[in-house]
Amino acid sequence: MNWRNIVQISKDIYWVGAKDWNRRLFDALIPLPSGTTYNSYLILGKDKSALIDTVNPGFEKELEEKVNQVSNLENLDYIIMNHAEPDHAGAISYLMSKNNKVMLVCTNKGATMAKKFYNIPENRIKVVSNDYTINLGNKTLRFVEAPMLHWPETMFTYIEEDKILFPCDFFGAHVAYGIFDDEVENLIDYAQKYFGEIMMPFRVMAKKALEKIKSLEIRIIAPSHGPIYKNPERILKAYEKWVNGETRIKATILYLSMWGNTEKMVLPIIDILNSEGIETKVHNLTVTDIGEVAKDLVDSRAIVLGTPTFLSGAHPMAVYASHLVKALRPPTKFGIVLGSYGWSGGAVQQIKESLEALKIEVVGAFEVNGLPTEKDMDHIVELGKTLSKRIKESNAN
Ligand code: FEO
Repeated sequence: MNWRNIVQISKDIYWVGAKDWNRRLFDALIPLPSGTTYNSYLILGKDKSALIDTVNPGFEKELEEKVNQVSNLENLDYIIMNHAEPDHAGAISYLMSKNNKVMLVCTNKGATMAKKFYNIPENRIKVVSNDYTINLGNKTLRFVEAPMLHWPETMFTYIEEDKILFPCDFFGAHVAYGIFDDEVENLIDYAQKYFGEIMMPFRVMAKKALEKIKSLEIRIIAPSHGPIYKNPERILKAYEKWVNGETRIKATILYLSMWGNTEKMVLPIIDILNSEGIETKVHNLTVTDIGEVAKDLVDSRAIVLGTPTFLSGAHPMAVYASHLVKALRPPTKFGIVLGSYGWSGGAVQQIKESLEALKIEVVGAFEVNGLPTEKDMDHIVELGKTLSKRIKESNAN
């Protein structure tokens, strides 16, 4: 009995992907409170057929059943591998073992990965480069090389007749519910979080990719995670800002406090920023969702990091946060580092150096022994005012 949910997104083009309602971590790191999807698309041309991207290991049979529900896996001519990461390429060897004539289509770097990760023999791989086309009869697949989004082999596929872009991870979002963009109310928030986690470190390449697709007329964007954009303008506009590192009058506050003293130093900064009309996003590092931190860093102009000294350096949670900031490479311009210590300082200097290595201008770094005094609090208030001024006087880029 055919019961799998398949969605036609254009004539003879079907979503045959899988929804993973239970996945709670990506990269063994990023929380996925709303699960995710592995979108796979079946294209039935007049003469030939193709599957664009596959699914995460564990969902191979579901994908097989869906393909067979609309067509027949044995008749499939091409599997397009836009990206070699297992969440999209994990079913390739299974599908190719069920059909001994289907060819894998990917970039040159993708071919190396397909051989290494999935044991695909060379004679079953068709290497394509920028602007190469494959004609399925009445549907033309055009490939757009878009490297380092976020692996070196990544490419996009564009169907000329239907004006649909399949960009794999790019424009993606980790959310399992909804098929189309208008079904998920806060989709841009999910997309921003995804951008922060996956694409932000590659903003330069993301900008190049965005330039490359500007010449294409795009009616639908069908990424490989999250909903399909029937109205692509919204996400294109958001990406334009994010890839350009456009910041807002906003600060991300990351802190933790062992005995409340560091918190006493951080709270006045939040109050001052707010009273100066600056949006603040506050994350207590002991409980926060680091995906939310990544999302806030996408467009924050400043960061405030508060950490006590733990033994002889920054608290491990603050080191983790500063390492995350370093890895994600946000467009943050300004920073303040605050902290208190019991018997040995050093945390503030350590974190200050890590922020400065990212070319973040640290407008204040202040460490106190124990409880901040009234004089210390006066100094903190001054730091808050200085940061507010710098945030407001600075341009978006
Ligand atoms: Fe969704 Fe980079 O894999």
